[in-house]
Formats: sequence, structure tokens, C-alpha cells
Amino acid sequence: MRRRLLAALSGAALAISLAACSGEGAGGGGDTNSAKPGDLTIGVSMPTQTSERWIADGNSVKEKLQAKGYKVDLQYAGDDIPTQSQQIDQMITQGADVLVIAPIDGTALSGQLQAAAAAKIPVISYDRLIRNSPNVSFYVSFDNYKVGVAQANALLVGLGLLTKDGAKGTATGPFNVELFAGSLDDNNAGFFFNGAMDTLKPYFDAGTLKVKSGQTKIEQAAILRWQQETAQKRMEDLLTSSYNDGSKVDGVLSPFDGLSRGIITALQNAGYRGGAKKMPVVTGQDAEVASVKLVNDGVQSSTVFKDTRLLAEQAVIAAEAFLRKEEPKANETKAYNNGVKVVPAFLLPVQTVYKEDIKSVLIDSGYLTEQEVAAGRAG
Ligand code: BGC
Repeated sequence: MRRRLLAALSGAALAISLAACSGEGAGGGGDTNSAKPGDLTIGVSMPTQTSERWIADGNSVKEKLQAKGYKVDLQYAGDDIPTQSQQIDQMITQGADVLVIAPIDGTALSGQLQAAAAAKIPVISYDRLIRNSPNVSFYVSFDNYKVGVAQANALLVGLGLLTKDGAKGTATGPFNVELFAGSLDDNNAGFFFNGAMDTLKPYFDAGTLKVKSGQTKIEQAAILRWQQETAQKRMEDLLTSSYNDGSKVDGVLSPFDGLSRGIITALQNAGYRGGAKKMPVVTGQDAEVASVKLVNDGVQSSTVFKDTRLLAEQAVIAAEAFLRKEEPKANETKAYNNGVKVVPAFLLPVQTVYKEDIKSVLIDSGYLTEQEVAAGRAG
């Protein structure tokens, strides 16, 4: 009897000391409702630091949570899937109360999400949807289909087929365009590409736009892990295989500024600079400072701006709702099926930035400074 009592007591003591060492406040889905922010930890898992936008996202989420008194465990996974899995495993064992995750491979985190669910930790999928798991609690992102529509429209505006207000432009074509897409393991890549292709289809059907390489499928256009060098290589290959007969590329649909820079380098190396061989219309996304400089210098035609400060704010709003044991407010409840369930989402709008919009959209809002744009470098 005495032995059993002792065992029970030491079991309780062990539980208390384990909770203490794990730094658990309310502890992984415990009574977060009445806990103080200082006792709660939010795990934030970001994919990579090679692209500015994710650094900005990570910093914004961290700052906003810390300003409210929460503890934040922010990790970057260096675009390596096992690293991201390990980092999330650790956040769970260390007693995170909410997880905010931007996955590298949307399909690779089912095990981690299962463990999070077992520990009753809500999971907010950040910008990229986590797929094939029932344990995604909420999704915060931008309207990803509209990003693709915006990129296609910017391509058409750059070519003169459309005006900025959507009227028919004065150009008639036909124009040669090439198409790039993002990483196939990123759920957003399909949304961007579909939005763009639906918008461009009438122009392909009419013969106003032609893809000389014939590579019009997303599998052919995709760039694994959104790598700039891979995009440069693919553009070089396209130029060699399809444009060494004296024909020219007039436009390139690019879904991300990093890819656009690789594409532009390949084009410049092939002599596209000005005069008869002027730089094609190249689109982009994320308003990365090096690319905003290229837009300002008239080299890249546009970028799609997604205000990461607003996305971070939505992630914080969702995290706080879960900590209060409430459901965050969604504004999209149909579009994002992750293969297992439709994940309720809050989507933010996006904005196309041409050279003339840099000041009003990016500088006046404090996203970038005039000096940063001039230098093409942050800081
Ligand atoms: C994001 C884009 C970004 C891309 C590459 C996507 O999931 O939505 O903003 O350009 O990843 O990092």
C-alpha cells in the first residue's frame, strides 16, 4: 500500500518536473484559455531564409506575438524537408501551445501533425497549405488563384494586349511567350499556374500568344524548390532549343521574383538587353527588393505584392482565437481542400506593382525604403 502510494506520488512529481522542464505553460493544448501570454509558446516553422519574403514573414510573426507577450520559437528549415520535420517534432515535445507552419513540401508533415493533434496543439498552415492531413486547423494566405490572374494580366499589359484598367490594348501580336511555374510540392504553385492559364487561354486559342517550346504543362514549367539557378538553366535551355532560329521571346510568365531574376540573367546572357533584342516582359511575385530595383530600372516588368505584415497579423489573430478555444473567422470555406478535408481559410488580397506603383504601394506603406529600392538590397 505504502509502496503504491509512493509510486503514485513520484509519478505525480515526475509529471510536474517534466512539465517544468519542457517549459510548458498551459502546455500543448492545455488550459490556454486562462493562461497568461508569457506562459504560452507559439512555434513558428518557416521554410527558408534564401528568399526575403520568408525572413520578413518570420520576423513579422515573431514581433507581433512577442509584442503581445507570447514566447516564440521561430525556426527556418533551410528548404530541407527532414530539418523541418525535426524542428516541428521538437516544438511539439517542448510543449508549444500553437504551431504556425509554412511547409516546404505540403505533403510531408502528416506524422508531425498527427503528433500535434494527439497533444491537442492547433496547427495554422501559413501561406502554403499542408496537404493530406486532417489535422490542419486553419489556413492563412493570400488569394493564390488571383495571384496567377494578376501575373497573367501583367504579362498581357506588358505586351500591350491589355491596358491596366482591363480594356483591349493596341498591340495585336502574335507574341512568343514561355511559362514558368513554382515547386510542385507547394500547393500554391498549382493555384498560381491555373489562375494564369485560365486568363491566358483565350489568347492562346486565338493564336495571339504562342509557346514556341510547346512546354505548356505545369510539370514542364515547374521549378523544384523555387530555385533561381534552376529557372536560369531552364530559360537557357529554352533559348537554345526553341529560339536559335532568329526568333525572339516576347514575354515570360514567372510566378516568383527569385525565378524572374534567374530568367532575366539567362536572357541578358543571350543578348536581350535593348534595341531589336529588347528584354521580354517578365512578371514576378513578392516585391523582393532586388526585383523591385529591376522593375524600377525597367528590366522586370512587374511584381505581385503580398503584404507579409498583414499575413503575419492574420496568423496572430488565428493563434489567439485558438488559445481562447475559439475558431478563427474564415473568409474562404470552399477553395482549399487539402486532400483530406476543406480547410477554413482567411485570404488576403494581392496587388500588382508596375514601376509607377513602387512609391505609392511599397515605399509610402513603409514596406521598403527609397534607398533600399535604389540599392536593390534590404537594410
Ligand atoms: C509563396 C510565394 C513565394 C513562393 C516561393 C509560395 O508558396 O506563396 O509568395 O514566392 O512560395 O517562396
